[in-house]
Order: sequence, then C-alpha cells, then structure tokens
Amino acid sequence: MEAKDVSSASDDAALEPSRPRTFIKDIVRGATEELVGRKVVVGGWVKTGREQGKGSFAFLELNDGSCLANLQVIVDAAVHPLTQLVPTGTCVLVEGELKKPPEGAKQSVELKVESVLEVGPVDPAKYPLPKTRKGLTLEFLRDYGHLRARTNTISAVARIRDELAYATHTFFRKNGFRYVHTPIITTSDCEGAGEMFQVTTLFSNAEKTEKELKQNPRPSETDIEAAKLLVKEKGETVSQLKSSKASEEEISASVSELTKAKESLSRLEERFKLKAGIPQKDGKIDYAEDFFGRQAFLTVSGQLQVETYACALGNVYTFGPTFRAEHSHTSRHLAEFWMVEPEIAFANLEDDMNYAESYVKFLCQWLLDNCIEDMEFMKTFDNAAIERLKLVSSSPFERISYTKAVQLLKNVTDKKFANEVEWGIDLASEHERYLTEVLFKKPVIVYNYPKGIKAFYMKLNDDQKTVAAMDVLVPKVGELIGGSQREERLDVLVKRITESGLPLEPYEWYLDLRRFGTVKHSGFGLGFERMILFATGIDNIRDVIPFPRYPGRADL
Ligand code: 4AD
Ligand code: MG
Repeated sequence: MEAKDVSSASDDAALEPSRPRTFIKDIVRGATEELVGRKVVVGGWVKTGREQGKGSFAFLELNDGSCLANLQVIVDAAVHPLTQLVPTGTCVLVEGELKKPPEGAKQSVELKVESVLEVGPVDPAKYPLPKTRKGLTLEFLRDYGHLRARTNTISAVARIRDELAYATHTFFRKNGFRYVHTPIITTSDCEGAGEMFQVTTLFSNAEKTEKELKQNPRPSETDIEAAKLLVKEKGETVSQLKSSKASEEEISASVSELTKAKESLSRLEERFKLKAGIPQKDGKIDYAEDFFGRQAFLTVSGQLQVETYACALGNVYTFGPTFRAEHSHTSRHLAEFWMVEPEIAFANLEDDMNYAESYVKFLCQWLLDNCIEDMEFMKTFDNAAIERLKLVSSSPFERISYTKAVQLLKNVTDKKFANEVEWGIDLASEHERYLTEVLFKKPVIVYNYPKGIKAFYMKLNDDQKTVAAMDVLVPKVGELIGGSQREERLDVLVKRITESGLPLEPYEWYLDLRRFGTVKHSGFGLGFERMILFATGIDNIRDVIPFPRYPGRADL
C-alpha cells in the first residue's frame, strides 16, 4: 500500500512517519483523475456519521484538521461495527480506496473503507459538542477549550494564526531581521504603566513552611541548648580519649558520634529559623528572600530587552507572549497576548511607519495567497473580510498627526462620542475606530502624540510637547500597532524617566545603551490577536487565541 502517493510533493523534507497517512487537504485539492483508484490511509475525527441502507453501511464526514473540508468516507457493516464509528467526535484511522462518487455529489472523490485500523470511540450521550453548528456559539465553546479546536471556526482560526506567524518570520527574514528571544520573566516595567503580574515563590513557600511546621513543629530554644550541650560533651569525650591514648576504634567511634551530634544541631538550627508567613524587613515584604532575590514580573513587552540586540545586530524582532494585569473586560483585550516587536537601528519614525505599513500589507497578501479557503469560511462572521484584506494590501495607509486627528474628531457632527476629544488626552477606541472606519475607510497611522500620554522611552520632538510615537489604527479593531522612535539622547531620556515618576536605578542598563555607542532607532509592537481579529472579522479576541486568559478565567 502506497499511502504517500497522493500526499503533497511540495515538501521534500517531510518525514516518513511510522504509519504514513494522507492529509485530507491533499485529497480534496488533488486532481480527481489522479486520485481515483488510489489506496490511502486517512485519520481524523468524525464530524457527522449516519448509518444507511438499513444499517448495511455508513457515511462518515471525516475531518483531520489539515483543511476545512471533510472527506466523505463509506464503511460497510461487514468491515466494522457501524454504531462504534458514527458518533460525532469519534477518532478513526482507516485504509481504503478513493472512488468517484455518484453524479451530483458534493465532492469529487470519496473513500471506500477496506479496513478500520484504529478507533477512538465516543459515548454520544456524553460528548459535549453538538453535531451541527446550529445554536453553537463561540461563547459556549470557551467552556470547552480542550475540544473547541475540533470545530470549523476554531480550527480555521488556528490555521490562519499559524499562517500569520509563518508570514511574520518570512517578512522579517526577507528584510534582514534576526529573531531574538526576549525574557518572559523580567525586572523592568517597559510601559511604566504598573500593569504587571508579579512572579514570586514567597506565597507557595509560606504555605509549604506553614504545612511543614504543623506536621513537625519548630524546635524550641531548650531543644537547641540541649543539642549544643550534647555536641560539647561528645567533643570532650573525643579529647579525653585522644589524650588517654585510647584505641583507634574507640576514638573513631566517638568522633562519629560527635559528627552525628553536630549534624543534628545544624538541622535543628535550620528548622529553628523557619518562620510561617511572608518574610518582612523594616515593615515591608523582604524580596531579598524571594526566588530571584528581588521583585520580578511577567513581561508586558520585550521591547527594552530587544533594543539591546538592535544596538548590536541592527535589525531584530521578538515575537512572544506578553502579559498585562489590566482589568479590561473588552473584546479587544487579553491578559496574555502575543506581540511581534521589531526594533530597527538607524531608523527614524518615518522608517518605522514604512516598516509597519509594509508588514501589515504583507500579512494581508499572505492570507489571500495561502489561506483563501479558511478566509472564505470567515465570510460567515464578516462578509467583507476578504475585501478588507485586498483593500489593505493594495492601498496606502493614511498618515495624520495626533493634532490633526483631534481637529478632525472635534469637527465631527454626525456622531456623539461618549468620551471627550481634547488635545492632551488619549484617543478612545471609539475615536480610533471613527477615524479608520468612517473618515478614511482604511488603515490610519496617527503620529506625534502628546508626551504626557506616552511612555518614557519615546523620542521627544523639537516642539518639546510631543513625542515621535505612532499608532496604526485599522477598521474592526482600532489600535493594531503601537510604536515610536526611541529617545537616543542620554540627558533627555534621564529627564523623561524622572518626569514619568520612575526610579532610575532599574533602567541603568537601558541608559548604558545611550552612554555607549548610542544610535537613532525605532520599533513597534503589533498585537498578534488583534491582527487575527482584523483579518477574520471575528468579534471577540478570546476566540482567536488557543487558550484565552482574561480577568477571572485561565482554563487549562
Ligand atoms: O501599544 P503597546 O502597549 O506598545 C508596546 O508595548 C510597545 N512596547 C511596543 C513596541 O514599541 N515594541 O502594545 C502594542 C500592541 C497594541 O497596539 C495592541 O495591538 C496590542 O499590543 N495590545 C493588546 N492586545 C491584546 N490585549 C491587550 N491587553 C493588549 N494591549 C496591547
Ligand atoms: Mg498602545
């Protein structure tokens, strides 16, 4: 049996697995005349199954996750008990021959099973996912994080997400960038916004100690004194034996007793130090006792660390999970989200905007070229999804200053905003969306924001009032990218850190980058899930990350 015959020939480096299996995508996308008559092994999960012909055979709609489409599989009752195969969710690995279905069938080939190689059964009374999409909401599926990838929507999102990740690496590699892994645990607050999750072992250690002390109470001072006395006595015995020239056996026996007494004393002294509760010093939590010997957090952005590599390797980017303990219960915020952060040496704000625009366009074009079947499916959520990708990939983004954006928004008469528009105040999501969705109907880059609403590391403009920051706003989502030229002047940066009310000490290493070989440089961060929202038209960010984390929820 030559199962690999019809598998994609495009991947020369593909491994030969122990059980060669043909992906359904290679069958449904293959040429009918080449496929018919081929023997294949196919494995997947039954979407729907029904017995036919008074139980003499069954149709299974099989999906293996390689594409959206299912393969129609026909099994005769003589081959395998059908009741075990038809329940939705059943896993099967089957071997058979590809056939041409009768006229009028949906697909150009179907699989006639000759043997069922493996079955992972399902008790239909207990399987929580329904057979059809009817009435099935994405919100309901969030309660089944371990099973939801078997649905059309979540698996399509997973493939789109994977394509966007691959496109990201492709884009940066093409442009001469190196991928740098920045730390997840950090001791610097990049955005200075105080929204960090703390990483500590003080609580678990306190609990462990408390439990241990309950089982085995702390020794008293009397216990310690008694142990010290024993050590003293044993020591004296050794000296006596030595001076009275006792036998070697006698001396070594008493030395070993002395060693034991010393060990027991040091164990007691260790335990004597054990204290329940969180260690304190001068009325504050003593972080010197914590795992890292200081306070540590989950990163909100890899930017500051990746800047160190930009100041050595030139063009770099980081792409990883970031964490924000903000209590934003919106459809655009997660507590754990992924960010793509390029950092470019010798680049100014305009270069930064050019890179951001060209990267977003590249991502859109990539989906059109590599993911059209899943994108077509997304029309069920947003009819305009594909048109949006085409428009964004082909037309230039609008670029306006923050000052101009405020003017435009102040002149709006056809809509009443819930939030105030005033120079010096950050734009609210409704303003951002109005600019991109209503006024310009395309992505808009807003630049040169008031310094008071942006992070300390952004370059101060000559007007002394604004910083060289930029946000890319897109329809459906609002802010997709935040970036800036970085302040490369040591004295100005010191002043900005201090003005922002931040201590200088933790940023000394960051200041060193300006002390030693400073360079004009710029970068930005693209919220990866926001990009997926924008591409797919799905409404809630919780449905475009495999395992969403938000206030009150961190399943699995
Ligand atoms: O604008 P932000 O906060 O920028 C930074 O973190 C910079 N250090 C990036 C850089 O210059 N290297 O975040 C960047 C992007 C936002 O535009 C948004 O798309 C996304 O990250 N983002 C979130 N996505 C989901 N959930 C959240 N809570 C997010 N917060 C920001
Ligand atoms: Mg931002």
